[in-house]
Amino acid sequence: MSGNGGDLAYLVAAACFIIALKGLSGPRTARAGNLVGAVGALLAVVVVFVVEDLDHLGLIAATIVIGAVAGVVASRRVAMTAMPELVAAFNGVGGGAAALVALIELRDAGSASTLLAALFTVVVGCVSVAGSVVTFLKLNELMTGRPVTFPGGPVLFGAVVLADLGACVWAYQVQPDPSVMLAAAFVVLLSLAVGVLFVLPVGGADVPIAISLLNAFTGLTVAASGYVLGNTLLLVAGTLVGASGTILTRMMAAAMGRSVASILFGAFQGGSTAGSQEVSDRPVRSAGAEDVAILLGFARKVVIVPGYGLAVAQAQHTIHELVDMLQKRGVHVVYGIHPVAGRMPGHMNVLLAEAGVPYEQLMEMDDANSEMSSTDVVLVVGANDVVNPAAKTSPGSPIYGMPILTVDDARAVVFLKRSMRPGFAGIENELLYDPKTTLLFGDAKDSLTKVLQSLKVL
Ligand code: TAP
Repeated sequence: MSGNGGDLAYLVAAACFIIALKGLSGPRTARAGNLVGAVGALLAVVVVFVVEDLDHLGLIAATIVIGAVAGVVASRRVAMTAMPELVAAFNGVGGGAAALVALIELRDAGSASTLLAALFTVVVGCVSVAGSVVTFLKLNELMTGRPVTFPGGPVLFGAVVLADLGACVWAYQVQPDPSVMLAAAFVVLLSLAVGVLFVLPVGGADVPIAISLLNAFTGLTVAASGYVLGNTLLLVAGTLVGASGTILTRMMAAAMGRSVASILFGAFQGGSTAGSQEVSDRPVRSAGAEDVAILLGFARKVVIVPGYGLAVAQAQHTIHELVDMLQKRGVHVVYGIHPVAGRMPGHMNVLLAEAGVPYEQLMEMDDANSEMSSTDVVLVVGANDVVNPAAKTSPGSPIYGMPILTVDDARAVVFLKRSMRPGFAGIENELLYDPKTTLLFGDAKDSLTKVLQSLKVL
């Protein structure tokens, strides 16, 4: 293939990435979008072999095989609930790869702008690797998920950032002298330290936001490495990841009613981003599956609010079956979907789509909220924070300001959960103690199966 043929193939791949992003922005087109993106990525890799005059072909092929096998196995095995950890791991690998490439290019960077881009790639790539490792450990509970702060933390963070900048200036001044690699070693170590110190104070429900931001950082790293290598496709793909990652981070923060700065630096200012996890022993009203079946079976209008617990219980098929049965009885049923229910953007949409729930039954938060006051029963399946009225009523609460599904406007609320433990933000939900609330304790799938059986004989 000629150079022009290569450019054309890169253009097609870049177009695939843009079409993929558009497709990924809606549940109906997400699957096709994902496929188009994968085709673009495959094309981008194949073109390099055709267009470039590559050395070490065997070594490159071996690393591609190892990477592909690891990627396929990890993606097939991962539970839907562990997706953020997988994104953190993949993201760290991407940032690290870009930083390594830039390190190799550092010594030979011909112009000031290439040198600056290479240094930028090393810094942001290393921040991204170290930050991703810490978020991975936090989400896997290999270390505490709570914010880690210590006296003098902000001062240390500032000092390490300044030292990192100093090392970059040193590297810039001595290049192309071989001592640039010594300076680069300092840049690497200090940038890794910045990554760790940046993410340590983030805790609880905010960790996925940090992952999304690091993902955007990796995009910028890849874009800069595209500039260093003179590769337009890397530049385009990196910019797309950087821009979409930034937009996603802002959307997630907005859905939680917070600013990105308060999420990242809130713990530095002394406020914890995770609640106390305390559980009170006040009485609640609990009921059996038959009672819940009666409540639902004789209602006119029911809203289902799915949350993280639905994913844990893998109860998406059972809830779909229950909704079908209620509809056959003439009950009007819709799902109310909160944008940050679960642990990743679109988590509930993906889960319910997997069970074949028609998209028309899914209502976004604002639309669902306008239905609440005319709703007889809201069935909260493994959700907690996204329906917690403390977000509206308790200014001191870590979730204060987060838009919620106002299920307390409905006539009755039924929670399916296993215990009185709080949700991800670690704070109590007053609604559990409300006289209009009924709790059906147990794993969501078991409980739904029992409700379904009771409904059949109603
Ligand atoms: P949570 O507030 O985490 O509540 C989940 C509930 O599910 C808990 O009450 C838990 O109670 C219950 N549960 C867990 N396993 C269960 C099972 N097998 N059967 C029945 N119930 C089960 O979830 P949510 O309401 O979906 O809120 C999401 C949280 O994640 C928010 O704080 C949000 O800010 C945060 N977050 C989300 C995202 C995205 S993009 N989705 C990103 C960042 C942060 P028991 O343990 O008593 O069963």
